[in-house]
Amino acid sequence: MEQDLARLRDAAFADIAAAGAEGDLEAVRLRYLGKKGSLTTLVRGLGQVPAAERPALGALVNAAKVAVEERLAAAAERLAADRLARTLATERIDVTAPGRRPPRGHRHPLRLIEDEVVDIFVAMGFRVAEGPEIEDDYHNFAALNFEPDHPARDTQDTLFLGGGGDDVLLRTHTSPVQIRVMRAEKPPLRVIAPGTVYRRDELDPTHSPMFQQLEGFMVDERVTFADLKGVLSAFLRRLFGPDTGVRFRPSFFPFTEPSAEVDIACARCAAAGTRDPACRVCRGRGWLEILGAGMIHPNVLRAVGHDPERVQGFAFGMGLDRLALLRWGIDDLRLLYEGDLRFLQQFPS
Ligand code: DAH
Repeated sequence: MEQDLARLRDAAFADIAAAGAEGDLEAVRLRYLGKKGSLTTLVRGLGQVPAAERPALGALVNAAKVAVEERLAAAAERLAADRLARTLATERIDVTAPGRRPPRGHRHPLRLIEDEVVDIFVAMGFRVAEGPEIEDDYHNFAALNFEPDHPARDTQDTLFLGGGGDDVLLRTHTSPVQIRVMRAEKPPLRVIAPGTVYRRDELDPTHSPMFQQLEGFMVDERVTFADLKGVLSAFLRRLFGPDTGVRFRPSFFPFTEPSAEVDIACARCAAAGTRDPACRVCRGRGWLEILGAGMIHPNVLRAVGHDPERVQGFAFGMGLDRLALLRWGIDDLRLLYEGDLRFLQQFPS
């Protein structure tokens, strides 16, 4: 029995020395010292030993158990220390390293200018409406008093959708929102409608097949051209500065009569006090065209079910892309659509 004991103890020592992880040690402990462990079984066998030999043998068995337990404890400590050392080596944090900031998004210049324009009109009592980008001929042209053979309806200018038919198209302007709102709601109306519009244009520094407009209109029983001038002058001076020169030039649109184009004085030339014939902003003209506007045509009012003798209105439309170019001195429209972060990161977040 003494030999069995020594053999078992040495086997236990060897197993402990071979254990590579704390979990292995527990397996070793169970193998020798667990309820059915081999040392435990040996202790139970002491009953069969003659009484005289029992105390001496009992002391030996106990010593072997204690020795194995001590080795287990020492090995557990060693493995825990190893684990800690490994963790410290691999999970080391340099608390002096500069923090890594997550990249921050920037608002797109088109959204910045849109918000600015919307805020000015909202402050004047206008509210925002939206309409679909896929339109039909009725809302985009017919109800807006375009003649059936008007050149704007030409496939040269308009992007039509759907096989052959000329009824479904990508809206070429935001004016159809006038028709949708006026058909759905009764005056008084003060509405603006920002949105994306499409035309069959090649992409170049001043043209894009997709661009942004903002439509506005006011309809009530006594709306006059003076209201139009007042609202648009106030808007332009809020956007470009209180001293901005504003002029209204006669023009033509099918859906307004009379119609006007609205210009602002070129800020660069105005600041210089003279008109610079080589000015890169206005190209020597001294004025920049910003808006189309006019009194809503009686035919348009009739198309949406109003009696033009009773209600009148004015309408206007502007290109937001152009406003963005002017606001930030950008010379190529394509920058607004290319998604180049080096450009976009220059705007506020
Ligand atoms: N829809 C016109 C365009 O796309 C812009 C415009 C001009 C809108 C005059 C209006 C307006 O409401 O009264 O060129």
